[in-house]
Amino acid sequence: MYYPDETVEEVRSRTDIVDLISSCINLKRQGANYVGLCPFHNEKTPSFSVSPAKQMYYCFGCGAGGNVFTFAMEYDNLTFPEAIQMLAARSGVALPEADENEELRKKDSIKKRVSDIQKDAGVFYYSVLKSDKDTAGYDYFKKRGLTDETIRKFGLGYSGKSGELYRYLKKKGYSDNELNKSGLFTFDERKGARDKFWNRVMFPIMDVNNRVIAFGGRVMGDALPKYLNSPETVIFDKSRNLYGLNYAKRTRRGYFILCEGYMDVIMLHQAGFECACASLGTALTGLQARLIKRYVNQVIISYDSDGAGKKASLRAIPILKDAGLSVKVLDMSPYKDPDEFIKNLGTDEYEKRIENAQNGFYFEIAVLEQNYDFSDPEQKTEFYNETARKLLVFEDELERNNYTEAVAARYNIKSEQLKRLVAKQSADIAGIPVTTRMQPKRGRDKKEDGVGQAQAMLLSWMANEPYITDRLKGYISADDFFEEPCHRLAELIFSQYENEGAIMPAKILNSFNDVNEQKAVANILNQDVPDRLGDKYEREKVLNEIVKRIRKQSIDRMTRNATKPEELQSLMIMRADLQKLHISLQDG
Ligand code: CTP
Ligand code: MN
Repeated sequence: MYYPDETVEEVRSRTDIVDLISSCINLKRQGANYVGLCPFHNEKTPSFSVSPAKQMYYCFGCGAGGNVFTFAMEYDNLTFPEAIQMLAARSGVALPEADENEELRKKDSIKKRVSDIQKDAGVFYYSVLKSDKDTAGYDYFKKRGLTDETIRKFGLGYSGKSGELYRYLKKKGYSDNELNKSGLFTFDERKGARDKFWNRVMFPIMDVNNRVIAFGGRVMGDALPKYLNSPETVIFDKSRNLYGLNYAKRTRRGYFILCEGYMDVIMLHQAGFECACASLGTALTGLQARLIKRYVNQVIISYDSDGAGKKASLRAIPILKDAGLSVKVLDMSPYKDPDEFIKNLGTDEYEKRIENAQNGFYFEIAVLEQNYDFSDPEQKTEFYNETARKLLVFEDELERNNYTEAVAARYNIKSEQLKRLVAKQSADIAGIPVTTRMQPKRGRDKKEDGVGQAQAMLLSWMANEPYITDRLKGYISADDFFEEPCHRLAELIFSQYENEGAIMPAKILNSFNDVNEQKAVANILNQDVPDRLGDKYEREKVLNEIVKRIRKQSIDRMTRNATKPEELQSLMIMRADLQKLHISLQDG
C-alpha cells in the first residue's frame, strides 16, 4: 500500500512521540526530554531519550533512533505502510482507500497475492488430509497422538502423491509469476511447474496475526530430508517469526517455552502448555528474542536434550539475555524432546520439569563442567578460572556476588577464593577491548574526522534552534555539506526553514527511506549542541569556528576540482573572505 506524502505527514504530525512511546515503555521527564530504558537493547540504566520538541527518539547506548514511524516499525515489527495504518488508526486519520502509484501498488499486491496463495494452499492441504481417498497423512498424525481438534487448530495438512496444488491454484486464477514467488513450486524450463511439497504432512507456519506465511513438510517415513521448509519469500522472513507465537502470545504464564520443532510445539499445546513456540531448527536470532520480549519476560528453553540441543541452548542464552529476558533451561532427560517427553511421562511430569528448570547461568556452568576432569588439579583450576570469567557477565555487583556465592557453594570452593579469582579475571581483561558487550555509540566519542563532526553539530544546532539557520544565510549553504547524508539533510533543513519558517526534525527524517540512513540522520540530529542558555559570546565563538571549519573544507574541495582560472580566482577571494567571516548571535 502506498500513501502520499501529505497523508504520511498528517499521520506523523498527529501522533505525539512521547505519548506513543510511553504507551510502550516507562518514560521519566528529564529537562526538555524524556528518558527510559531502551526497548531495543538490554540495559539497566536509561540511555534512551525522547525529545518532544524534535518528535524523535535516540538511544545513546545502541544507536537506535528515529521518529514515530521507525519506532512503530522496530517495536511492533511492522513495515512502513503497516506503521502508517497503525498510527493512523490511533490518531484518527482517515487513510485513502486504494492508491494511485502503480509501481508501489504492484509490489504491494504481489505480497497480497503470495499471502493469498499460502492461505489457499493451507485450505487445500487440509482438505487433502481430511479426504477419504488417501488417508496416509491423517493416519500419520493420528499415530503420533494428535487429536482432530489439534489438527484443526494448527491447520495441519497433507500433500498427497498426486501433487495437485499447482493445478488447484491455477484454476483459482494465480499467474505463474505469482506462484513462482510463493515458494511452493519448482519451475523447470523443460518439466514446467511442480509442487515442491509432495507426499509429506504439512505444517502451515503462521505469523502473529494468524496469517499463513509459509509451510514445513515432513516425510512420513525415514526418507531425507525429514523436513522441507518454504524458502524465504516476500512475506516470509524466518528470522522474524516463531512457530506457535500466534497462540503463545496470549499466555498468562509470563513465560514462553522455547523448543526446536513443529511437533514439540503442537504436542505441548495439546497438553495444555499454551505458551510453547519454536525457532524451527534454525539458530535463534536477536529479532526473535526481541519479539518474545514483547509478550513475556522469561523463557524456558526446552531444546532437545542431545548434544546439538545443548549447544543450541548455549547459543540462545546470551541472545535471550541480551533482549532482557530471564532464561531457564528445562531438563528433559531421559527423553529427546518435549514431544517424546509428554508422550512418555505426561503433563504433570513436564510441569514439574518447568518448576525445576535450571537458571541459564547454572546451565552454562554445568555444561562447562563436563569439559574438565576434576581429578586433575590443573583442570580443576582452569574450570574455576573459566567460571570466574563467566561471572563477569553480571555487571551488577550485587547480582555477581550472589551468583559467585551460589556457584562457590555448589562446587565446594570458598566463596572468598572465587571472588578473588573473579576480581583477578576482571583486572586481566580490563586492558582488552570488550567486544562481546555493547559499546556506547555516543556520536562525540566516535573517532570521526573533525569536519564530519562539525557538520553534524551544525546541522543538529540548526534543527534545535531554527533561528540559527536564518543567521547562517549567505555564509554557508547546503552544498558546503558535501557528504551524504549531511548534504541531503542540510538541503532539507534549509528548504524547510525557507518554506515553513520552522524545522521539524521528525518530518525531515521521514524523507530518508533507508533505515540505516535514518539511523545516521537521527544520530546527527542528536549531537550535543551548545546550551541555548549558555554564554552568548561563547556560543557565538563556537558557531563561527564550526562554520569556518566547514567552509574551509568545502573551499579546499572546490579548489581541488576547479579547472578554470576564473574559478580559482573566485575561490581565492572566498578563502580570503573566510578570515573575516563573523556571524553574530546577538539579539537572537
Ligand atoms: N528441521 C528442518 N529441517 C530438517 C530437520 C529439522 O527444518 N531437515 C527443523 C524442523 O522445524 C524440526 C526441527 O528442526 O521440527 C527439529 O528437528 P528434529 O529434532 O530433527 O525433528 P523433530 O521436531 O523431533 O521432528 P519429529 O518429531 O517429527 O521427528
Ligand atoms: Mn521429535
